[in-house]
Amino acid sequence: MANDLTNSYKTGPDENGRFGIFGGRFVSETLMPLILDLEAEYERAKTDDSFWAEMDFLWKHYVGRPSPLYFAERLTDHLGGAKVYMKRDELNHTGAHKINNVLGQIILARRMGKTRIIAETGAGQHGVATATVCAKFGLKCVVYMGAHDVERQKPNVFRMKLLGAEVIPVTSGRGTLKDAMNDALRDWVTNVRDTFYCIGTVAGPHPYPAMVRDFQSIIGKEAKEQMMEAEGRLPDTIIAAIGGGSNAMGLFFPFLDDKEVRIIGVEAGGKGVNEKMEHCASLTGGRPGVLHGNRTYLLQDADGQILEGFSISAGLDYPGIGPEHSWLHEVGRAEYVAITDAEALEAFKLCCEMEGIIPALEPSHALAHVMKIAPDLPPDHIICMNMCGRGDKDIFTVARALGWDMGQL
Ligand SMILES: Cc1ncc(COP(=O)(O)O)c(C=O)c1O
Repeated sequence: MANDLTNSYKTGPDENGRFGIFGGRFVSETLMPLILDLEAEYERAKTDDSFWAEMDFLWKHYVGRPSPLYFAERLTDHLGGAKVYMKRDELNHTGAHKINNVLGQIILARRMGKTRIIAETGAGQHGVATATVCAKFGLKCVVYMGAHDVERQKPNVFRMKLLGAEVIPVTSGRGTLKDAMNDALRDWVTNVRDTFYCIGTVAGPHPYPAMVRDFQSIIGKEAKEQMMEAEGRLPDTIIAAIGGGSNAMGLFFPFLDDKEVRIIGVEAGGKGVNEKMEHCASLTGGRPGVLHGNRTYLLQDADGQILEGFSISAGLDYPGIGPEHSWLHEVGRAEYVAITDAEALEAFKLCCEMEGIIPALEPSHALAHVMKIAPDLPPDHIICMNMCGRGDKDIFTVARALGWDMGQL
């Protein structure tokens, strides 16, 4: 049971897909048989050695895992406190952690005989990963993307098209990830027979949050082994950025029962966590409600209407958060903080200049929090942050934010 904290934080979700009061399966009658089929297939795959053998093979030879654990020496010296390590998931094929999960879901889709894959995407990284794996297996791929995100993540839209995917811009709402997910769910209900919905984060109805977490847990599993090799012990603090929360759950999950390890999730503070809601910090500034098939913390107004939220980072621009994070927050196992756009940009620049790594804007939020706490921690304190994506997709956004004219370089 997810509520049984006597032994382990890793026992959730319960048989109804709940982490405490969060999660569950709030879907229409039409979707229910599809969700149940998926759950049954995943349950079979979980204990099937041939499923994991295929995953391990492709993680190694197609994705390039294990990703390195890297000691950021110059950054550590510069900050003058704790030792900073980066889990380099930006080095994966396609440039982010998203492909870890996509591989798992598409192998499941193939086992279920599905030939058409749909996905939603915000920053475009999940869309690119889905288009990539679909191309590899010769599957039709349709990606829903908010029109605003299509505009600000153009390089990824082009990549998806090169990979043979159809990208459908979504103009409802503010044209961001929430709206893309609504349309993807609508597509799924309409095309039940041949279509598999590949969700890109630890959200959606059960079994998605747990399934995506399980696929992404490779990040934390490797980080744990690599840290033992590098330092002979576990890190003191682990930190990751949160959109829906999949890279963070992936890093956190294997450490949940190592109670001496401090766990910090970093939400998008946008222009500041204020009453105008110009941020996307669902735990820091939201309250529980139901969206996209699960109960979790959401940005909403007094009437329970979902608010749009705001962040410079397209991948963090989601007004909800995975239900397991809501639960970890409520039981106090993980802490959640917010970092503003301006702080993330500072971290982005510092990482480029100090480490020769151009980070995505999403992990720049995690790095900004590292920059905040590391100077006050002793030199034997070890921090491990998840560098979950590379910044190629963000160069136009960053140029605009810094006032650089790309035509005048
Ligand atoms: C590089 C990167 N990091 C983080 C995220 C946020 O997703 P999640 O919180 O599910 O890891 C995204 C989403 O697009 C992303 O592209």
